Amino acid sequence: MGAYADAYRTSLTDPSAFWGAAARELEWFRPPATVLDDGAPPFYRWFPDGVLNTCFNAVDRHVRDGRGEQAAIEYDSPVTDTRCTLTYRELREQTARFAGVLRHLGVNKGDRVVIYMPMVPEAVVAMLACARLGAVHSVVFGGFAPRELAARIDHARPTVLVTASCGIEAKRIVEYQPIVEQALALADHRPRSVVLLQRPQAPATLRAGRDLDWHDALGEAEEVDCVPVAATDPLYILYTSGTTARPKGVVRDNGGHAVALRWSMRHVYDTHPGETMWTASDIGWVVGHSYIVYAPLLTGCTSVLYEGKPVGTPDAGAFWRVAAEHRVKTMFTAPTAFRAIRRDDPTGAHLDRYDLGALRYLFLAGERLDPETYSWARDRLGIPVIDHWWQTETGWPIAANPMGLEPHAARPGSATVPMPGYDVQVVDEAGQPTTEGQIVIKLPLPPGTLPTLWQDDERYVGSYLSAHPGYYLTGDGGYVDDDGYLFVMGRTDDVINVAGHRLSTGAIEQVLAAHPAVAECAVIGVADELKGQLPRAFVVLKAGTEVDPGTLDAELKALVRERIGGIAALKRVDVVAGLPKTRSGKILRKTMRGIAAGTDEPVPSTIEDPSVLDALRPILARG
Ligand code: COA
Ligand code: AMP
Repeated sequence: MGAYADAYRTSLTDPSAFWGAAARELEWFRPPATVLDDGAPPFYRWFPDGVLNTCFNAVDRHVRDGRGEQAAIEYDSPVTDTRCTLTYRELREQTARFAGVLRHLGVNKGDRVVIYMPMVPEAVVAMLACARLGAVHSVVFGGFAPRELAARIDHARPTVLVTASCGIEAKRIVEYQPIVEQALALADHRPRSVVLLQRPQAPATLRAGRDLDWHDALGEAEEVDCVPVAATDPLYILYTSGTTARPKGVVRDNGGHAVALRWSMRHVYDTHPGETMWTASDIGWVVGHSYIVYAPLLTGCTSVLYEGKPVGTPDAGAFWRVAAEHRVKTMFTAPTAFRAIRRDDPTGAHLDRYDLGALRYLFLAGERLDPETYSWARDRLGIPVIDHWWQTETGWPIAANPMGLEPHAARPGSATVPMPGYDVQVVDEAGQPTTEGQIVIKLPLPPGTLPTLWQDDERYVGSYLSAHPGYYLTGDGGYVDDDGYLFVMGRTDDVINVAGHRLSTGAIEQVLAAHPAVAECAVIGVADELKGQLPRAFVVLKAGTEVDPGTLDAELKALVRERIGGIAALKRVDVVAGLPKTRSGKILRKTMRGIAAGTDEPVPSTIEDPSVLDALRPILARG
């Protein structure tokens, strides 16, 4: 049996042996005697009696073991024309001191800290400082509007908010302070303090009594040591879009997370201590949490932190420059980034300007990797391009090509094979095995995946575990071919993926419904060449309302931008006479999606009035 098949089988037949061995890669204050607590299904806990500290394993341990002068973070920011290195020694010192700042502000084990920051090293320091204290961070993506930030503040109820004066986009400076002030005005919960990193591009005015300047606070702070926490204690909450407007607070524990990420670095990414990994994503997303921050640092790698875009900062050669200058071995980004590069530089002419001799792998995830983008990247780079599939909920790949365990021949369009611990199955709506259908994972999920949603076990069970008892519902559909390769074809629910950013159509609908002219609406994701998908809206006006369609279109687009953020860019808005519904009043979004995608979508027998759908067909087909 091959190494992969062997590992996969053992992980399912004897999970305690498999993950118990993986856990020995970490340093524990108290090693776990029990690997899996399966006494209260559908809830499972990994390493229930283990005690460790994630920051110790990611930072202090490497300094102690002689990596102090190795670069931990290489910050590369074309938008500010800055490059700097943070060694493991410097990262330890700054993290220990920032933990001192947080503790001084009343943050203790279990308390929450919201981090709303751009891609700067201080953001990583803030995350690790929380981990050091056993506090729970919740990083909010900088592209979210005040209302989204407020919702996360109210849900996580942080003691402290850490932010910066601005973020820098390719074409503009995004001042964070007005966003933070608006969010705090909207939120019911008040953090006791705000720590703000001043950036020269747009300094902010501090509010006396509440705000502290990052550098002033750090200058006065005392170093704090790592606090032992239970493996099952939460490390972070990361909000993600579900099918409703209310984001889900995915919880990540300390022990299972560290064990799974460390395992994945060796076996999936084939990336080892002292090597350089660059994940071109954002720390506001799970990809950034796992493969910019925690996994490379837990492994003793150098992680590149890139504050820039694939194109426009300054050109479509930016990724090759960064990969060449930092001698990156393993690169990871979203397919959208490659589609943007390909659009601007179809022949890959920029590649000739750089020496990519160190680059061994390109990993892509976050959305479906279309075979054209896959082939373009593989042909231009001449290295393995690895499509792998995962979610905020899982924290690390569900399916991948395990390059460090046993590389498989790639198949375009497939994320290759399930990773150890993930018993992936394809079922129909009744839960029966089928060739193409819903992708589910038999419980227990492996270490590193969500144990629950923040303070909401009920929603966790309702959202993921109740459709097919004993299985986790991924929300994705697809099939497994005869050789066991998994093909993930897209979401089966109302979650969409815009430029690798996960959004809820329900959240967009809620915003549109707030417009005084709108009686009801439906939003679906439609295909887009660059961003994979874009939201498209269909609105029914209130009776007697007269509005100019152009004005309404502009107002609704502006409203979505203001309430959710620029990342939720609406493609178009159509005013329609009615929306197709079932007799119980449920809008037939799936049918609408299918017609818009040009597939032969069966019309459900429960449809209330087929003529409404007939009237909509030509509009949907217009693209
Ligand atoms: N802070 C503030 N605003 C942000 C932001 C952030 N962190 N990220 C994006 N935005 C804004 C953008 O400035 C843009 O605003 P604009 O409409 O005023 O220009 C808007 O949100 C839409 O951004 P985006 O969806 O990124 O589209 P784009 O056209 O600016 O760029 C790409 C297209 C493909 C270059 C870009 O989406 C990209 O780099 N994608 C990579 C995806 C990725 O890393 N995903 C992470 C998951 S792995
Ligand atoms: P997020 O939680 O933001 O990481 O988004 C997770 C979703 O992105 C998944 O449920 C999929 O729909 C999609 N996704 C991520 N990676 C892939 C992939 N390799 N192939 C297809 N879809 C993917």
